[in-house]
Amino acid sequence: MNILVVLGSSRENSRSLKVVNAILEGAKTKKCNIKIYNLNEIELKGCIGCGCCRKNSIDCVIDDGLKDYFNDLHNCDVLIISGANYYSMPCGQMITYMNRHYCLTDSNKNNRLKPGKQLISVFSQGAPENYPKYVPHYEWFINTFVSKGIELLSSINIGGNTDLSDDGEVIKDSVILGKSL
Ligand SMILES: Cc1cc2nc3c(=O)[nH]c(=O)nc-3n(C[C@H](O)[C@H](O)[C@H](O)COP(=O)(O)O)c2cc1C
Repeated sequence: MNILVVLGSSRENSRSLKVVNAILEGAKTKKCNIKIYNLNEIELKGCIGCGCCRKNSIDCVIDDGLKDYFNDLHNCDVLIISGANYYSMPCGQMITYMNRHYCLTDSNKNNRLKPGKQLISVFSQGAPENYPKYVPHYEWFINTFVSKGIELLSSINIGGNTDLSDDGEVIKDSVILGKSL
């Protein structure tokens, strides 16, 4: 099983990272390959709307830190996307990353990804869990991936009030989720 992980936050004490690590801890109980893209460590350029991808049915041609990502995405079984809420939305680097998935639809509006992939999303916010105003923003983000044929397995929204202790429900459930992959 190939697991592709995208980190939108890597700050010390990142809460979204803590949840991702719990999922990976569970996943590692089985044989799996894990590849991680840390959006704050790679060179990340925005989509320039060149249209090259859709015209030629190819992956994004921008030469940056996502160069190998699309190949990894085509080959993965599970995609985990994670990060922080900044100003009510997934943070800027996550949106820049998400915009780059325009290439996964061809000129006939067909998905270029093989079916059978699963998605887990982890969003962390300062506001309480499932603060209603943010839910549609996360759904909008996730839909970019779901619309490319990736099945949403789990969407985890953690708030400033969420208990992330090792024996708390969210971390324990995240380990179980990882084991279930
Ligand atoms: C620039 C900035 C903007 C933020 N804006 C919001 C916000 O609008 N709503 C909110 O609930 N939390 C907001 N937060 C809090 C973060 O979402 C929260 O600290 C979250 O845990 C960050 O994720 P991380 O721990 O994985 O880095 C903001 C934090 C920063 C640094």
